[in-house]
Amino acid sequence: MLQLNPLSITVYFALSAGAFAQPLGTVSPLAQICGPPSSVVCIKKYASVMPYHFFREPSYNGSYEDIYPSTMVPNDTSWGLVRKADFLVFDQARGLDLLGPSPSYEYVFEVNNAVHEAPVYSPVTNKLYFSQLRGTKSPPGFLPQLVVNLNVDPPELGELISDPYMPQMAERSTTSVIYWGVSGGNNSIGGIEERPSIATLDPLTNKTVTLLNNYFGYYFNTVDDLFVHDNGDIFFTDPQYSWFNALTDRAPQLETASYRFTPSTGAVSVINDDIVQPNGIAIAPVVAGCPRTVYISDTGAIAGTTQQSLGPQGTEFNTTCKRTIYAFDLSANCKHLLNKRPVYLAQDWVPDGLKVAANGYIVTRAGKGVDVLDSDGTLLVRVQTNFTVQNFAWTGANYEDLWIVGNSGVARVKWALEGQVLK
Ligand SMILES: *[C@@H]1O[C@H](CO)[C@@H](O)[C@H](O)[C@H]1NC(C)=O
Ligand SMILES: *[C@@H]1O[C@H](CO)[C@@H](O)[C@H](O)[C@H]1NC(C)=O
Ligand SMILES: *[C@@H]1O[C@H](CO)[C@@H](O)[C@H](O)[C@H]1NC(C)=O
Ligand SMILES: *[C@@H]1O[C@H](CO)[C@@H](O)[C@H](O)[C@H]1NC(C)=O
Ligand SMILES: *[C@@H]1O[C@H](CO)[C@@H](O)[C@H](O)[C@H]1NC(C)=O
Ligand SMILES: *[C@@H]1O[C@H](CO)[C@@H](O)[C@H](O)[C@H]1NC(C)=O
Repeated sequence: MLQLNPLSITVYFALSAGAFAQPLGTVSPLAQICGPPSSVVCIKKYASVMPYHFFREPSYNGSYEDIYPSTMVPNDTSWGLVRKADFLVFDQARGLDLLGPSPSYEYVFEVNNAVHEAPVYSPVTNKLYFSQLRGTKSPPGFLPQLVVNLNVDPPELGELISDPYMPQMAERSTTSVIYWGVSGGNNSIGGIEERPSIATLDPLTNKTVTLLNNYFGYYFNTVDDLFVHDNGDIFFTDPQYSWFNALTDRAPQLETASYRFTPSTGAVSVINDDIVQPNGIAIAPVVAGCPRTVYISDTGAIAGTTQQSLGPQGTEFNTTCKRTIYAFDLSANCKHLLNKRPVYLAQDWVPDGLKVAANGYIVTRAGKGVDVLDSDGTLLVRVQTNFTVQNFAWTGANYEDLWIVGNSGVARVKWALEGQVLK
């Protein structure tokens, strides 16, 4: 199209006249400290009009992990504040409110650079449990769960070996027992066979019980994230990362999909099959008069090949592919997902770990940080980390602190946004 619109004509004449012109409406300054503390930085009007020439490097085929602060904006020096901040506030009124009067971000533990996943808080033991998907110890493949003991100050990091041993956990949940999505598929780690499955851990005895390990004989791909509905049904996602990342010795036997599992009957039903790589799954609190909302993230922008003959090839990141959270209405009988709509295209990387706060705000991991969105998906606040986050969990009597786990780090956020008390 060679038709010039009036704006481009204006800019063209301004440039040709020798005077450099930024567009009318350019936001200035883009960023300013709006704490205390000084680690809280507000982005004015979402930096919706940046001064030229700005540029953010995309990724089409690699593992290059760009971050929002890496955008080059040489014509606004306030942009330097963005990289240094712990908290980026996009909606000043609601953002500062959810941060509370004295928000803090603290890097608490250094861990190896493997994926650390599935943080689950147990109020029974006042401990935070999480997994690691690659070990550093012998025997090879030895992968204990990691446990943060919150009964001591400062908290202590330890290990847990469940009985039976379950090495490669993905996700998460709940009070009396912890529900685990098992993502590994191998017949020799610890001398046992395991396949992608759903299991429970009793944190008082460390005993595990497997609830589901097949779909009519087929292996699941990667039981990734799950939530447990009040009625006992377990909703879970089944992407293909275990194959891409060599956590299973079997190529995918099923398409990517999300399911509803009823432990009392053993029945599994597909609830969604049009998401490229379904990953995080979470349910919103009950709001009177409204259907309950379920969110599922699509992390298809990070994927590999499923061809068995090629073997596990790892993953590549392509900015132009799916990295979006979708909302659905849960049907009145709590069995189906209706009215799929996209609500958030991640600003960084892909939206993996996904949970809903007590007030209905959506919280998601996205690259090197955690994003807080309102229930419509509008970004309010970003917590920035210096490591790639996988997931997070609220801890404490009122689910007031947020613990963040990922590759090489564990961090704690203190703020005023409480988590849902999960069943
Ligand atoms: C990245 O994804 C786009 C589709 O959005 C595709 O056309 C392109 O080939 C992909 N790049 C690579 C290197 O695979
Ligand atoms: C990635 O794509 C770029 C162009 O988009 C190309 O120059 C580069 O060689 C590719 N790298 C790999 C590892 O395929
Ligand atoms: C502002 O941008 C113009 C155009 O890219 C560039 O010539 C100029 O040097 C920039 N100014 C600063 C201070 O970076
Ligand atoms: C099972 O896992 C162990 C430890 O990571 C690995 O050495 C072994 O090759 C795996 N087995 C298969 C069949 O992939
Ligand atoms: C369960 O594991 C934890 C962490 O390793 C340990 O402290 C605790 O004693 C174990 N409990 C039982 C009943 O073995
Ligand atoms: C992140 O920062 C902490 C200190 O705040 C440091 O100990 C750690 O090595 C850093 N991690 C990375 C991956 O840079």
